[in-house]
Amino acid sequence: MRVCRAKIDLLQEVQPGAFLLGLAAPGISHEARPGQFYMLKIGEEADPFLPRPFSWLRRGPQASCNGDRVEILFQVVGKGTARLARMPLGEELQVLGPLGRGWEFDTGGFPLLLGGGIGAASLISLLEELPPKLRLDSWALVGARSGNQLWCGEEMSRMGAKVMLASQDGLKGFHGTVLELLKHEQDSLLRAGTEVFACGPWEMLRQVALWASSKGLPCQISVETPMACGVGVCLGCAVRLSGSRGYVRACQEGPVFRAEEIEWD
Ligand SMILES: Cc1cc2nc3c(=O)[nH]c(=O)nc-3n(C[C@H](O)[C@H](O)[C@H](O)COP(=O)(O)OP(=O)(O)OC[C@H]3O[C@@H](n4cnc5c(N)ncnc54)[C@H](O)[C@@H]3O)c2cc1C
Ligand code: FES
Repeated sequence: MRVCRAKIDLLQEVQPGAFLLGLAAPGISHEARPGQFYMLKIGEEADPFLPRPFSWLRRGPQASCNGDRVEILFQVVGKGTARLARMPLGEELQVLGPLGRGWEFDTGGFPLLLGGGIGAASLISLLEELPPKLRLDSWALVGARSGNQLWCGEEMSRMGAKVMLASQDGLKGFHGTVLELLKHEQDSLLRAGTEVFACGPWEMLRQVALWASSKGLPCQISVETPMACGVGVCLGCAVRLSGSRGYVRACQEGPVFRAEEIEWD
């Protein structure tokens, strides 16, 4: 984990309300594992005071800093992300990370990636670092409210995954949620050794976890619980464990968990 000041060398609107951000600083990306995240302090002002968590999308490539660079895909939802979207190129941000526990992918199972909304961004780094054969063998189902918000699907397709899209407004792909698409296509998607990786809104993760359990599939989920410190101190990111085993911190013990670890009710 590092604390650094990183220069914004890219800020581009890639779909309505979603921006690709490039950050360059010595050492920023060396230790990053797929599924880990960074806390970004946005601006020098007191408001927004707290840093905001974002998954990294990819390292490099056009490094302005000897390869020490990460890209982040973010969606504007409130004042922090709105402020971030207006920042000028060349401005520096205070960055903490990489943080948390990322995806485990050394089991050799066939990856089935499920991304909901901007949560799909966390799966791009996973796909990128899968062994090439597994990447080409993987399925990715990406869903969003609107067909205009499916940027990650195109990216995953370029990376070699077999992609299916779902949009709730029916503009692109299957008309419905990613869960409805999954259930519709499950007979053609499932193979012996399928392993599920999912990131998206809590309700989507809950349903994925139940579905994977009913099929007896190993399943990892990445939660996007709001965070204040990102380093395990404030306990603001607590997630309840199954079986009355108490709570864990999404920023330290997660954000990636085995689905059966979590209390979903
Ligand atoms: C580990 C992790 C990785 C993340 N990765 C990404 C990413 O790659 N790209 C991306 O766009 N976003 C990501 N997020 C979500 C991102 O952190 C929030 O969208 C951001 O903090 C919102 O800040 P804001 O100041 O714009 O909104 P605020 O003004 O803080 O909030 C605006 C509204 O959004 C709600 N809200 C804020 N944060 C969340 C949240 N985490 N979940 C649900 N509702 C929320 C608030 O309750 C409020 O209603 C991630 C979150 C976590 C925990
Ligand atoms: S965000 Fe503070 S403990 Fe997790």
